[in-house]
Amino acid sequence: MSRKDISGHAVGSLVIEGKTKRVWDIPSGDGGSSSFVLIESKDRITAGDGAKAHDLTGKAKVSNATNAKVFQILNSAGLKTAFVKPAGDNAFIAQKCQMVPIEWVSRRLATGSFLKRHPGVPEGYRFNPPLQETFFKDDANHDPQWSEQQIVSAGFCFNGVTIGKGEVDYMRRATICVFEVLERAWRSRNCALIDMKIEFGVNNMGQILVADVIDSDSWRLWPSGDKRLMKDKQVYRNITGEVTQSHLDEIKRNFEWVAEQLDHLTPPYRCMVVILMGSPSDEDHCRKIMECTRALEIPTQMRVTSAHKGTGDTMSILADYEGAEMPIVFIAVAGRSNGLGPVLSGNTCFPVINCPPVKADNVDRDIWSSLNVPSGLGCTTVIHPEGAALAAAQILGLHNHLIWSKLRVRQLQAVASLKAADKKLREQ
Ligand SMILES: Nc1ncnc2c1ncn2[C@@H]1O[C@H](COP(=O)(O)OP(=O)(O)O)[C@@H](O)[C@H]1O
Ligand SMILES: [Mg+2]
Repeated sequence: MSRKDISGHAVGSLVIEGKTKRVWDIPSGDGGSSSFVLIESKDRITAGDGAKAHDLTGKAKVSNATNAKVFQILNSAGLKTAFVKPAGDNAFIAQKCQMVPIEWVSRRLATGSFLKRHPGVPEGYRFNPPLQETFFKDDANHDPQWSEQQIVSAGFCFNGVTIGKGEVDYMRRATICVFEVLERAWRSRNCALIDMKIEFGVNNMGQILVADVIDSDSWRLWPSGDKRLMKDKQVYRNITGEVTQSHLDEIKRNFEWVAEQLDHLTPPYRCMVVILMGSPSDEDHCRKIMECTRALEIPTQMRVTSAHKGTGDTMSILADYEGAEMPIVFIAVAGRSNGLGPVLSGNTCFPVINCPPVKADNVDRDIWSSLNVPSGLGCTTVIHPEGAALAAAQILGLHNHLIWSKLRVRQLQAVASLKAADKKLREQ
């Protein structure tokens, strides 16, 4: 196998070259090909299925940086993607996939080709949930729209995976999940994600992954929700006459602005879950809650304090956290009579969740001290440790899109594992 150096990486043969990138085999230790590829961006911008195309110096670098930052957000949310890591300025390493030749489009607002296909729908019509459409990748026929039935009937099979109804359903759900994760991320910069397209591939273990690239060519992005401020490739598509150098300079400045904004999409948000237990004997129960919040990468602390026996200390601990200048959710764990949660709740405006360590033989007595609280108190009660942790995460996720995204992806994966279990049983 011939060896070349691309973007500082030794690669083997060219797997495929498309309009905007080249895919290179990465050799394995024994000289064969590995299950990874190097995807190199080109300094090339195209539109209209390649009918319009220009060289744009520096486009590869900015596109590669945008793609890397977007996929890092998706990976950290827990989505299964092909992206592994950046490799120099113009390339990245990805899991090698057989690609599903479908463009998976999601739309929050109606605009562009949707309006032409659905006359009468005004621009800006809002889709809740985001609308999902599929187009067969076929430049010569201008990527015709395909229904689920057409995709299933095509009988695609990639790396041993037949693309049937279940696979299409997973990709539809994942498409919307990717949109929602990135929509929330962009909202934190006051930018409206209007619509976008992604592609999927199947790796050599038969996993369906979000693959290809996601960059300024993939979406419509309107700062402040104002179409006139658009920062995506639509600016290029919209040029009717000759494309001048100053047009290309403006497009590149827009793309650079997008890549720069992405650096601010994952700020070090500060927030915390504080688990207070009435007695050290409750530690095991509290650890179960903490395992779940930490799996969501939420900073979590455990404290021991009894509202009955050490009321002053409880109030002083509460004051420390209230002064910490960050959103905090308290989880109160107290057996027998739960004084802790209600006392906290009566003295703070932060959310308090009771998670009493009840067992079958005491639940009918002990639970009432968490449920039947005095008037004026807003504490809630959740029995299972995981449930209490998720309730806290959902509260923090209202203002933290990273936590929200992790929760959203967990729901997608839960559906996926149920489907996988169902498929396995049917195949037995
Ligand atoms: N992880 C991957 N593994 C293998 N091929 C990939 C991967 N990601 C993208 N590709 C393929 O790389 C090719 C080049 O991309 P591109 O230049 O965008 O092509 P196109 O013009 O067909 O859209 C495409 O055929 C795409 O499907
Ligand atoms: Mg492409």
